[in-house]
Amino acid sequence: MKKYLKHHEWYIIEEGFDPHLNRISESVFSIGNGRMGQRANFEEDFTGDTHQGTYVAGVYYPDKTRVGWWKNGYPEYFAKVLNAPSWIGIKVKIGDQVLDLAKCKVANFVRVLDMKQGLLHRSFEATFTDGKKVEIDSKRFCSMADGEVGAIRYSIKPINFSSTASITLAIDADVVNKDSNYDEKFWEEVHQESQAGWAIVNAQTKKTFFQVCTGMEYRFEAEGKLINGKVSTNVKAKYADNVVDVELKEGVEFIVYKYAAVLSSENHKKDSLVKLCRDKLNESVRISFTKLFESHAAVWAHKWEECDITIDGDIAAQQGIRFNIFQLTQTYTGEDERLNIGPKGFTGEKYGGSTYWDTEAYCLPFYLSTADPKVARNLLVYRYKHLPKAIENAKKLGFKDGAAFYPFVTMNGEECHNEWEITFEEVHRTSAMAYAIRDYINYTGDVGYLNEFGLEVLIGISRFWAQRVNWSTDKDKYVMLGVTGPNEYENNINNNWYTNYLAAWTLRYSMWAIEQVKKSDAKRYGVISTKVSFKEIEETSKWKDISDKMYYAEDPKRGVFLQQDGFLDKELLTVADLNPEDTPLNQKWSWDRILRSCFIKQADVLQCMYLFEEDFTNEQIKRNFDFYEPMTVHESSLSPCVHVILASKIGYKDQAYEFYLRTARLDLDDYNNDTEDGCHITSMAGTWMSLVKGFGGMKILDDKLYFNPYLPVQWKSYSFRIEFRGRVIKVKVSKDKTETVLESGEPLSIQLSGKEVKLK
Ligand code: BGC
Repeated sequence: MKKYLKHHEWYIIEEGFDPHLNRISESVFSIGNGRMGQRANFEEDFTGDTHQGTYVAGVYYPDKTRVGWWKNGYPEYFAKVLNAPSWIGIKVKIGDQVLDLAKCKVANFVRVLDMKQGLLHRSFEATFTDGKKVEIDSKRFCSMADGEVGAIRYSIKPINFSSTASITLAIDADVVNKDSNYDEKFWEEVHQESQAGWAIVNAQTKKTFFQVCTGMEYRFEAEGKLINGKVSTNVKAKYADNVVDVELKEGVEFIVYKYAAVLSSENHKKDSLVKLCRDKLNESVRISFTKLFESHAAVWAHKWEECDITIDGDIAAQQGIRFNIFQLTQTYTGEDERLNIGPKGFTGEKYGGSTYWDTEAYCLPFYLSTADPKVARNLLVYRYKHLPKAIENAKKLGFKDGAAFYPFVTMNGEECHNEWEITFEEVHRTSAMAYAIRDYINYTGDVGYLNEFGLEVLIGISRFWAQRVNWSTDKDKYVMLGVTGPNEYENNINNNWYTNYLAAWTLRYSMWAIEQVKKSDAKRYGVISTKVSFKEIEETSKWKDISDKMYYAEDPKRGVFLQQDGFLDKELLTVADLNPEDTPLNQKWSWDRILRSCFIKQADVLQCMYLFEEDFTNEQIKRNFDFYEPMTVHESSLSPCVHVILASKIGYKDQAYEFYLRTARLDLDDYNNDTEDGCHITSMAGTWMSLVKGFGGMKILDDKLYFNPYLPVQWKSYSFRIEFRGRVIKVKVSKDKTETVLESGEPLSIQLSGKEVKLK
């Protein structure tokens, strides 16, 4: 854990340059716009410790799956998001000295992330070995108004000298990934061109043949006038630049405006990329840095209106929640149904940038509550479009008749994760897609989604469950063997309670969905039935039988549900029994030891109680919480948020607050010592849920919105907004009262702390 960032309600602030913290800051101060993003690397050369990272959404590489013992059904490849061509480079050479923070004396270093306006700002004073001093001030953003545009304002002010200087403005596609890449390079050259004033590199990924065309154009300004210098142009494979000789005058600010355009073949024809990139650059220069920034900031202002949360009385908590919201908003804008949310967003490469069940189980409620419904809808359509691949995936594992098994990790619908205990056994994830449909309908009331897309998905998933269970004559129940639950610290177990519950629920929900579609549009139902060769009576009677006779492991003595059949055979210790030197277990213990232990990586039984809280009494939740929480090591960032929500529900307010801090400032305070790899984007949605669903007690039940809020004693008040069925509702919770205001939309009745309230 590190606490070096200053608290401020809208800014993340780093004061002073500590090279040891640089990689953490590069993650935290990342910027993006849904289409592209980058770590907060320096524009000027830097030979110190850094993780250079630029990413373009949807551009990945299918790396070969390499395992010693190949198992049938393994995916051919694992996908990884590729480090993409960098457009930020501004090399500053004064005399024969290159500006490099690893080599100069640095003073007054400040790095600021302005979350309100989506701006990365950095300033410092550097002293070269010959005593020359410069002040640098850089501002950079990836435009939210045009996802293909980025811009930098980089000012150089000589403090104690005048001199000629050369400024190199580069586009560099000769980049590598930091994660395991077997020293391979993934980009091949297509076209590079440099002319006085601009440069373009069009590069293509190996195997996937994505082309990304990255260009830059620039302007210099000093004393309010445009400045020209002597330009030399350079190109080499996957690289192009302009080197410009200019005069720097003592005390005079010399400003570089560098405009970037990033176009990918995902959105344009390959043979048009270079021309379109040139056009976009011309247009950006014409618009100007200031105006581009104004449009960008206006989009942020609108986004914040929709999704801001205020916390009064605790600035660290205020900064924490805004940081989470900021990252979620710049990672996914919902404009493109082919895109999704990688666990690290644009802040790093871990987890390959791929899509996990995190999206449906954690992220969806955030986007449903804070943005136009089409944003969340696109996340659902993404999975609908992957349905044929999910069916193919199931087929590879021996399932048939249209059973759909969604991948644990994917880029394009194909499974690309190759640990058997997860790929084959962590089957619960396929039901997260069904739960997402329920969530979407609950929030929006758009039952018609079932007719258009939802029902097909539900039928596919239900067919999978119908084939995945088997009848146990011994138990006289359906059982589910050889699975891994959400707690990945147990593998190949039988009857994971979470999985069995989700499977049975999915079957029931699908039967409900069939009735809905039949009722609303019998013709459409006929079309879907024919398309998927649905034998309704035969299939649904099997589904009903399974959901009625599913086996759930329980311990009647303790009154708890059992995570799996053999859970009570374990030595039941608590985290308090662990030697702190043994944690985190995943770094200190052998895998064998972890698997045999009772320690739980992340919420499992409790995850289910959170998803279906209406199915359980508070007493039941309390008993299970008391039993499982003490064994939970929370070694997944997805864990604490679920505990906040349940702890709030059962009145464990202190514990809820403790877990909240852990999730809200996870990356800002580097709780898990891993922020340098990138931020935990998907768990940030969990932070949002902790506040709104935990402290705010928000839930939707039987088409009605409920709030059961309380105020953590550490705070004076907090407020949030919820989009619900065409309305925007603002909730403000303070010590003595809770105000609920209908900001837009038709009047509606809600339940507030057990009472009906009419909002007009
Ligand atoms: C968690 C998974 C999660 C993945 C990506 C793992 O550590 O156990 O539940 O999907 O991280 O966030």
